Amino acid sequence: MDPTAAEKELGERARPRRGEELELEIESLAQGGRGVARANGYVVFVTGGLPGDRVRARLGKAKRHYAEASAIELLRPSAERVPDRCEHGGEPCPGAPWQGLPYERQLEHKSAQVDEALRRLGGLEGFELEPIEAAAAGWRYRNKLEYSFGARDGELVLGFHRRGSWREVVDIDDCKLASEANNTARNRVRKWARTEGIPAYDRPEQGGVLRNLVVRDSARTGQVQTRLVTSPAQFPRPPVDLHTVVEGPGGGTDGPTGVLGAEYLTEELAGLRFRVSPAAFFQTNTSMAERLYAVAADYAALRGTERVFDLYCGIGTIALTLAGRAGEVWGLEAVPEAVADAESNARLNGIDNAHFVAAQARLGVRPLLEQAGQPDLVVLDPPRAGLSSKVVRRVIECGAPRIVYVSCNATTLAPNAAQFREAGYTLRRVRPVDMFPQTPHVECVALLER
Ligand SMILES: C[S@@+](CC[C@H](N)C(=O)[O-])C[C@H]1O[C@@H](n2cnc3c(N)ncnc32)[C@H](O)[C@@H]1O
Repeated sequence: MDPTAAEKELGERARPRRGEELELEIESLAQGGRGVARANGYVVFVTGGLPGDRVRARLGKAKRHYAEASAIELLRPSAERVPDRCEHGGEPCPGAPWQGLPYERQLEHKSAQVDEALRRLGGLEGFELEPIEAAAAGWRYRNKLEYSFGARDGELVLGFHRRGSWREVVDIDDCKLASEANNTARNRVRKWARTEGIPAYDRPEQGGVLRNLVVRDSARTGQVQTRLVTSPAQFPRPPVDLHTVVEGPGGGTDGPTGVLGAEYLTEELAGLRFRVSPAAFFQTNTSMAERLYAVAADYAALRGTERVFDLYCGIGTIALTLAGRAGEVWGLEAVPEAVADAESNARLNGIDNAHFVAAQARLGVRPLLEQAGQPDLVVLDPPRAGLSSKVVRRVIECGAPRIVYVSCNATTLAPNAAQFREAGYTLRRVRPVDMFPQTPHVECVALLER
């Protein structure tokens, strides 16, 4: 259920107030992963609550027909709950909100969420929902984590923001979603910062120095890349590869970046080697990215002669893994550094039928169509927001008989697939892939044909 459905479903009722504490029984899980509870029929979406739990929850936003709340005490855990494995300072890891759910249940919920989104938000039916691809590893699968600096009792801490708080940072020694190498790298930078006495940046005060640390690593090449994000300030040379300076009180980790060590990370995937720039996107679960691309390749059903467009191609991973089975592949991507990586990755792997273009999808697809000619297949892998209506129209203009849509958000895939249906495409197959165990996130691949 989502907030809109809650509004429709319920009549007007007495409204609980922000800050109020309620005892709630969690009945089910909503799209996005929060628990759903009812207080006198009034729907409450509870962060930190799993089906079968009884929790004390504090209300945040309270709208006319639904409210949002955070569980502050687990009064009676669901009989199904498995013990938390990743905790920091006695609190469950904010990065693993579903770790209390048995893994089989996580898979069932994810599959059901994809199915529900397509049917209810897209009005789609008649497609085959294939069994969800389970993750190869439940823990230590993330190859990238972004940590925040903070202060607690006068000591510098480095970890994650406490759930629902942008101020408080929980110190971390071992995050079990991250590899051991990633944890070691983070702890080394924290030790350096404490030894040098460099303070964390304080947003309300707009003082201090250290903001974030981004650690990327590759289990396959053994490389680790560290990027420190600070305010403009003088301090001793940090033990990191990259140093980004961000001005002003806003969040975010983008800014001018100096290179102190290795600029690129090298990763191996599907038998190919990939250079990854700090500004470029790379799938955060390498072994499951391989499985995701294998599903995309299966749906693509290439025979060796086709022209393929890979829109939102990042560093060219999908285009390059398909290149050996296609006549030619064309990648389009907005971030110029990622396009430079994609070109370099084609050379690195001796692939000569791949071409890449740096452009926004809404502006770049028409010129690409003119330059390359009509594609036999369009692969789409947009960010969470999905495709704008304009981009959907540009893709329809490509006239490809087959579209393979890789989506990290079924609630945006659904309306996009419905728009493609209006243009004569049929949604044939959908396969969810679990890239993010212990979290509500689910990736899926969809095949549309006309
Ligand atoms: C989910 S990632 C997929 C990347 C790649 N297919 C992969 O598997 O690694 C989405 C990509 O779309 C790019 N992007 C975001 N907005 C875009 C736009 N308007 N036009 C083109 N590319 C865009 C991002 O930079 C990112 O590389």
